[in-house]
Amino acid sequence: MTESDVSYLKSVIHDVPDYPIPGIIFRDITGILDDAKAFQLCIDTMKTRYQEQGITKVVGTEARGFLFGAPLALAMGVGFVPVRKPGKLPRETHSQTYELEYGQDTLEIHQDALTEDDVVLMVDDLLATGGTIEATTHLIRAVGAKVNHAVFVIGLPGLKGHERLHNLNVDVFSMVEYE
Ligand code: PRP
Ligand code: ADE
Repeated sequence: MTESDVSYLKSVIHDVPDYPIPGIIFRDITGILDDAKAFQLCIDTMKTRYQEQGITKVVGTEARGFLFGAPLALAMGVGFVPVRKPGKLPRETHSQTYELEYGQDTLEIHQDALTEDDVVLMVDDLLATGGTIEATTHLIRAVGAKVNHAVFVIGLPGLKGHERLHNLNVDVFSMVEYE
């Protein structure tokens, strides 16, 4: 990523103050999705960084993790596994509850989605407190797969998600950051 790539992504990300609650600046990635150059830049950057890491599956968390995770999996030539909000996956699941920057939620994964031979890359649009990806890490490890990398379009380092994931031995890369 060059500085001009970072500036370009920031130019299409909409900053929405006081959404969904007062005090939060919401970083809206829909401007990336409707700009093919920005969207392609995100997928190409992620693919280049991880293509030699032996990744066998990409895991994306509902909902915005699907938007980047599914195209990345296709670009890397590996399968995509969704981690979903409760009650959405039809077969046997593992379940994990976690805290958000604003609220609480639960995530689930199909118990047979991964095997002990899988090496997983986690993808999401944004890293805030790290609760979502911490819960996703536990789900992936609960089904026996290896996971040591997470990639994000946006990082909010002030919320210390990087440290939280580092403590779980998960290496983090965010393409753009906001203090
Ligand atoms: C948002 C975002 C990340 C998560 C980041 O998802 O897409 O998944 O919050 O926050 P954290 O690092 O503090 O966990 P949200 O739960 O709002 O769901 P959505 O993707 O369905 O909008
Ligand atoms: N998810 C958690 N915090 C967020 C933020 N500030 N902007 C967009 N999505 C988020």
